[in-house]
Amino acid sequence: MASHSKSSQKTLHVGCPNIGDRQRFFDLVSGVFDRRWLSNDGRLVKELETQIARRLGVRNCIAVSSGTAGLDIAARALNMRGEVILPSFTFIGTAHALAWQHIKPVFCDIDPATHNLDPAKVEALITGRTNGIIGVHLWGRACAPDALAAVARRHGLPLLFDAAHAIDCTHGGRYIGSFGDAEVFSFHATKVFNTAEGGAITTNNDALAERLRQMRNFGFEGYDHVVELGTNGKMSELSAALGLANLESLDRFIAVNRRNYQQYRQELDGIPGVELVPYDDAERNNYQYVMVLIDAKATGGLDRDGVMSSLHACDILARRYFWPGCHRMEPYASLYPEAGVGLRLTERIAARIMALPNGETVDEQDIKRICSLIRSLVENRITS
Ligand SMILES: Cc1ncc(COP(=O)(O)O)c(C=O)c1O
Repeated sequence: MASHSKSSQKTLHVGCPNIGDRQRFFDLVSGVFDRRWLSNDGRLVKELETQIARRLGVRNCIAVSSGTAGLDIAARALNMRGEVILPSFTFIGTAHALAWQHIKPVFCDIDPATHNLDPAKVEALITGRTNGIIGVHLWGRACAPDALAAVARRHGLPLLFDAAHAIDCTHGGRYIGSFGDAEVFSFHATKVFNTAEGGAITTNNDALAERLRQMRNFGFEGYDHVVELGTNGKMSELSAALGLANLESLDRFIAVNRRNYQQYRQELDGIPGVELVPYDDAERNNYQYVMVLIDAKATGGLDRDGVMSSLHACDILARRYFWPGCHRMEPYASLYPEAGVGLRLTERIAARIMALPNGETVDEQDIKRICSLIRSLVENRITS
């Protein structure tokens, strides 16, 4: 995806896939073909689950076919129904996982400092119809796990985390993966660690893990005994092979991301109205998301969309993550036209933020090109 355009300028994408050792992947796939075992709890899926659980220090890891399938299954296994509180400032899949099973998503506003759910606002939204809370660790920054756990406990609600962005990230020194009742990772191609399509649910609750495993496989217990409604959310051996190869390179991917992020920080420093979203140096993060806020009041009127279209014209495909917020997308915009009233901070951040390219295909020269373009756009605007 780090392609070259007709002008031979490198096109830079947000979420261009990281790919580990190809030979290792081919060898693993060759073993899959030799065994003629392509799916259904194969050896590589089990190995990937074991390695991820060990890495994150969590008792159970259940690999699934996508992050969204993981959210579907986890919400159902936690008996979420009726209404569930979640942020609107997230990828649409978080909300769709609920609506797909006729659960009403109740959108809650964010804390502008963290871009994550504001626990006090969550608590204020709880009613007799509320049956759960989903926090999202946006950009891999932990979504107030302790405060949300306290709210969930006070009201007897299940707490699920969408950890799609948060592999290898910590909160209080503890890896994301064992907070709440369960957490769901995405291993989509755009994530720092990918299995092309895929994801995982992690939990320290063994009984819940057992249920999640059954639900992922049509509700089967054993060969021909179906104990409840399930779906097909299984990961294939080919995805697991890519996952095992990529996992061996994950430390390198993160080191590259971190170095790139630090360069972005230096090169964007001092540009009026351009603010890089920070990471807490005391925690681990995977630095996959280089998020920038544009304040048009300080750039001479140049707003996020203006910066973005100039970047796109130069083959730098920045992305408006997550604009305009789930509540302004269908079916939610039609179903809940008033939802935006309580989402003032979500709307403010969603209108100003964008993601810049990162990952192993992005190098020092690319970051210089991106940042000097942003600098000259703003400086020209201010002086014109
Ligand atoms: C915050 C968030 N939640 C859920 C998902 C859905 O994951 P998947 O694409 O693996 O279904 C994504 C990304 O794709 C995401 O960014």
